[in-house]
Amino acid sequence: MSNWDDVAERVVFNLEISVPDFQSAVPLKSKILDFGCGYGRVTNQLYGLGFRDLIGVDASESMICRGLNAFPTLDLRHLSDLPLPFPDQSFDAVITCAVFTCVPDQTERVKILDELHRVLKPNGVLYLAEFCSDDGHKFTSGMGVSMWHSQPKVIEGMLTSFEVELLKAVQSPTMSGHFSEAIHILARKN
Ligand SMILES: C[S@@+](CC[C@H](N)C(=O)[O-])C[C@H]1O[C@@H](n2cnc3c(N)ncnc32)[C@H](O)[C@@H]1O
Repeated sequence: MSNWDDVAERVVFNLEISVPDFQSAVPLKSKILDFGCGYGRVTNQLYGLGFRDLIGVDASESMICRGLNAFPTLDLRHLSDLPLPFPDQSFDAVITCAVFTCVPDQTERVKILDELHRVLKPNGVLYLAEFCSDDGHKFTSGMGVSMWHSQPKVIEGMLTSFEVELLKAVQSPTMSGHFSEAIHILARKN
């Protein structure tokens, strides 16, 4: 994760989640994992919406340090590798925002999804907000981080052990200020 560590102090993430969609599927008392939480931007947004049982994990220690400085009340944890340090069926919901976007390897993505599936309770909600593109391109961002804006069908195709309940395509600014397609998916563990 050294690339993310290098930019952790100055990067500003901006992909938005769809709050009404998330709130309609995830009750306030839910135990939620924000996987790839970065500096806790979305975790803190969820806290502000009234969710209290939140854990954010990220592979970049510097991101977590920044998050703990900015939001000392949040439970943000550095995670050096999988498996996740949580028992099976621990969470009512898992959220990822622009995380699979930064995992340019399909095998690695599937490994992560298997873990997210394991820690979700039966019928638990998986909410993904990810950048994508119709032609699916891999590139290195201006910050030197590998990215994969994969085709929406590739992202949806990874969710074989989930039931997709909602899929929305939107346009969103990227970190570099360009606009890109993004996808919001709300799925439930089968
Ligand atoms: C674009 S940032 C998004 C951060 C946050 N979700 C947000 O939207 O503000 C992607 C984050 O995913 C983390 N990440 C990438 N691969 C990861 C992995 N395999 N395990 C945990 N975190 C990972 C990176 O360290 C980085 O902080």
